Amino acid sequence: MADSSRTPAGGPSQGADQAGHTAVAERIPFVDLRRQAVDLHDEFEAAIWSVIDRAAYTMGPELARFEQDFAGFCGATECVGVSSGTDAVKLALLAAGVEPGDEVIVPVNTFIATAEGVSHAGAVPVFVDCRADTALIDPSLVEAAITPRTTAIIPVHLYGQPCEMDAILEIAGRRSLAVVEDACQAHGATYRGKPVGSFGIAAAFSFYPGKNLGALGDGGAVTTSDPEIAARLRLLRNHGQQDKFTHVAIGYTDRLHNLQAALLSVKLEHLADWNAGRRRAAAAYREALAAAGAAAMPFSCDPEAEHVYHLFVVQVDDRDGVRAALAAHEIESGIHYPVPLHLQPAYGQLGYEAGQFPVAERLTSRILSLPMFPQLTDAQIERVTSVLRGAAEG
Ligand SMILES: Cc1ncc(COP(=O)(O)O)c(C=O)c1O
Repeated sequence: MADSSRTPAGGPSQGADQAGHTAVAERIPFVDLRRQAVDLHDEFEAAIWSVIDRAAYTMGPELARFEQDFAGFCGATECVGVSSGTDAVKLALLAAGVEPGDEVIVPVNTFIATAEGVSHAGAVPVFVDCRADTALIDPSLVEAAITPRTTAIIPVHLYGQPCEMDAILEIAGRRSLAVVEDACQAHGATYRGKPVGSFGIAAAFSFYPGKNLGALGDGGAVTTSDPEIAARLRLLRNHGQQDKFTHVAIGYTDRLHNLQAALLSVKLEHLADWNAGRRRAAAAYREALAAAGAAAMPFSCDPEAEHVYHLFVVQVDDRDGVRAALAAHEIESGIHYPVPLHLQPAYGQLGYEAGQFPVAERLTSRILSLPMFPQLTDAQIERVTSVLRGAAEG
């Protein structure tokens, strides 16, 4: 599949020019996870062995330390480490009181995990179209999707850009809906200076390896500033266990492992710098693409938002042709996401049809995600944009 974190990193490889001469082109990977790990080798080694030396693999001090630091980073009072972003969505909804049969509003253009979290909580996802200029959920369409069974809305801060939280919180407040943010792609992003993870009653984060803050395996977290929600999350992630032999709820094995928490603490120290690196790369992409106009158009960035560019996505007419041209020049790319959720077979039973979400449906055939990681160089950006422009401007 084409998720950023699921696209392999590359290395130098061989290609042939038009005259048939073999040349070695430096591959430009979509993400460069190995580079991060190499840079942090000594800190990782110390963190790993401090956990192994004590054989403290679950629910230990490393987890508590990371939770405290990540809550602070997100402007929340509490953070509960869990097993994945998908489980974070599920647990946040359950802890917020969402019940079987409830309806939860979800943007139609997101990774399927947002909707899966709703389904795992026993609720039904109700899809809403997105804005053409940002690809984020369109707040003006939310009210029409609300029914007497609606209990929550999940704004997804897609690609690393915060949703229009003022508008969403206003609707949710007026219609008594819980807001659970899906911040799985947006660690460190802000809206009107306030970090994502601090707007809703709870927020879900993923630490899948390719995320802006990624573990060395699966992981996730829920942030909240409601102590009762945090207490419920702590029960649910660990078998409903209140003390060693007392289980007050039927829970899950959904804990964030100590080893991952220790590694995430090392990485958290660097996250603000890495996000700044992503913003620098995005600014360079925007500058290089400005002259291409509509031929290769990035999404707009809301002036109220500080975007953290988990992904840098452009819209092009001949997406498959442009993608093939990039691949021919050893440049990796991705599509996030090629099929909107209402057309996914897994949600066929909901009865949606093609044509119901025209903005998302149009975008899915035009979007193309370019290489994006903090250490992307100006020379790499120049190579990507010149191949892109050559192919897109035709
Ligand atoms: C928007 C969004 N929501 C949820 C998830 C689920 O996270 P995880 O893969 O950790 O379960 C992801 C991760 O890919 C995501 O991008």
